[in-house]
Amino acid sequence: MINGTAKKSATCVALLYTCFLVNHACDSDGVRFGYSGSTGPKYWGSLSPNFTMCSKGRYQSPINILKDDSVYNPKLEPLEMDYTAANTTIVDNVFNIALRCDDTAGTVKVDGKKYKLKQLHWHSPSEHTINGQRFAVELHMVHYSDDGNITVIAVLYRHGKPDSFLFQIKGKLAELHLEGCKAEKGDPLPAGLVDMRELKQGAHRYFRYVGSLTAPPCTENVIWNIFGEIREMSKEQAGALMAPLHGSYRHNCRPTQPLHGRTVQINHM
Ligand SMILES: *[C@@H]1O[C@H](CO)[C@@H](O)[C@H](O)[C@H]1NC(C)=O
Ligand SMILES: *[C@@H]1O[C@H](CO)[C@@H](O)[C@H](O)[C@H]1NC(C)=O
Repeated sequence: MINGTAKKSATCVALLYTCFLVNHACDSDGVRFGYSGSTGPKYWGSLSPNFTMCSKGRYQSPINILKDDSVYNPKLEPLEMDYTAANTTIVDNVFNIALRCDDTAGTVKVDGKKYKLKQLHWHSPSEHTINGQRFAVELHMVHYSDDGNITVIAVLYRHGKPDSFLFQIKGKLAELHLEGCKAEKGDPLPAGLVDMRELKQGAHRYFRYVGSLTAPPCTENVIWNIFGEIREMSKEQAGALMAPLHGSYRHNCRPTQPLHGRTVQINHM
């Protein structure tokens, strides 16, 4: 009898805890935007004076890349990604999961200028589309130059074989998920040394255009480099990348934006 009662009350506590997590703890204070409803992408520009670029900007991201409309530019050099291993932290930003790197992660050279890799984060499904096709996941590797310019390398993934890079942070993603709502307001979790070199795979073919950050404040003059090669990750891995997020944030993809006369360049015939 006593055992039965104890079990019952443990179940009640577990249920209460679950309700608490769902209804109250994850109130996402401080994040003003979302991906659906009254804080969705259509309204970003009016949610804060800092977000006006999201509606006023003419050169926004993501875009739909039409392969036949992209222009071959023989002057585009292969992306020189000089990556190493970096000490990292993993953080739940409410609207995405990001891996932040210390200054040793490495650099990419774009048009002769060096940009340091600062953080990686993931969107699901993909934000950029190719010939109208959307993919399961999109990785953004965000780099900054010393004078504050931004270049992003994007990799598109379809469901398939497991991605070996993600094995390195599997445990940390699970830890973040277990922390539940606490993670959203907590400090980044130390995630140790992560080898960035595997991310260079597929760098020889890419699309290039100038756009913006795909989330508020939608800052423009971002140089985009989107790998032409579609990579694979397992469904489980794609799920693990979104699992710590709540509700509609698990679908964190901004709709594609008008080109307004921009051209997409391509570095191969
Ligand atoms: C706008 O951004 C600045 C700089 O990040 C910040 O200090 C300020 O509080 C922001 N304003 C609003 C209304 O969010
Ligand atoms: C990595 O960063 C953590 C803090 O996030 C720190 O405690 C640790 O000493 C660092 N490790 C190395 C090898 O620098």
